[in-house]
Amino acid sequence: MAKKIIIGNWKMNPASLKEAILLVSSIKKGKAADKNEIVLCPPSVYLSDVVKILSSGKHGIKIGAQDCFYEEKGAFTGEVSPIMFKTVGAKYVIIGHSERRALGETNESINKKIKLSFKKGIKVILCVGESERDETGQYFRFIETQIKSALLGINKSYFKDLIIAYEPIWAIGKNAQKSCDPKDIKEMSLFIKKVLAEISSREIGLKATVIYGGSVDVKNATQIVSEGEVDGLLIGRASLDAKKFLGIINSVSSI
Ligand code: PGA
Repeated sequence: MAKKIIIGNWKMNPASLKEAILLVSSIKKGKAADKNEIVLCPPSVYLSDVVKILSSGKHGIKIGAQDCFYEEKGAFTGEVSPIMFKTVGAKYVIIGHSERRALGETNESINKKIKLSFKKGIKVILCVGESERDETGQYFRFIETQIKSALLGINKSYFKDLIIAYEPIWAIGKNAQKSCDPKDIKEMSLFIKKVLAEISSREIGLKATVIYGGSVDVKNATQIVSEGEVDGLLIGRASLDAKKFLGIINSVSSI
């Protein structure tokens, strides 16, 4: 099986640096060497300490930020730029997560954040996803608009550094009833590749990295990856439990 990418989005967890260190240490200790790419996205305040823990050993775990700002530096209180994340060791940044969109993130700011991140050599995990599914399939148009506006004016030479995470909002977090059905994930993944092909080239569309996120756990991870035909997973809750996260990593490597 081709290399997969498994990303842990810790969101605003855990509550202390001590717990964050414990979590990353357990993941590092338990991870067997395999070909898949593992990325941890801790809260930015823990980033340097997590990087320090990961600086030794052959675990292959990389680090990402959960968001960034669209200016390089300056008078922007509270913001952190992609280049700052890069200097402390982040290789990836999540942009456009639905929880940030719910706080006011717009397609326009997402576009600016992606532009600067690519320019600064950070790989982008762009999150897209509908809040509900209608009978007529309008949600496809919604996803298409999210992708096209996020990538507006971006040189397609950067698309090799792009991961699109399909995260239907109704399948995310503790209030979700269930994850998305693998056959619907497969359909959406193909659609996303088609949209990318339209704005770049057929070859780029075919090669695009599309992953899935939303209520992924040890029980459904392999089915989602194999039947959903995605290139990886974006995991929230289950990434906060080292045993569960390692279980997902191991089950995906055994496909
Ligand atoms: P979840 O979150 O795995 O807890 O559903 C996924 C996400 O928001 O990235």
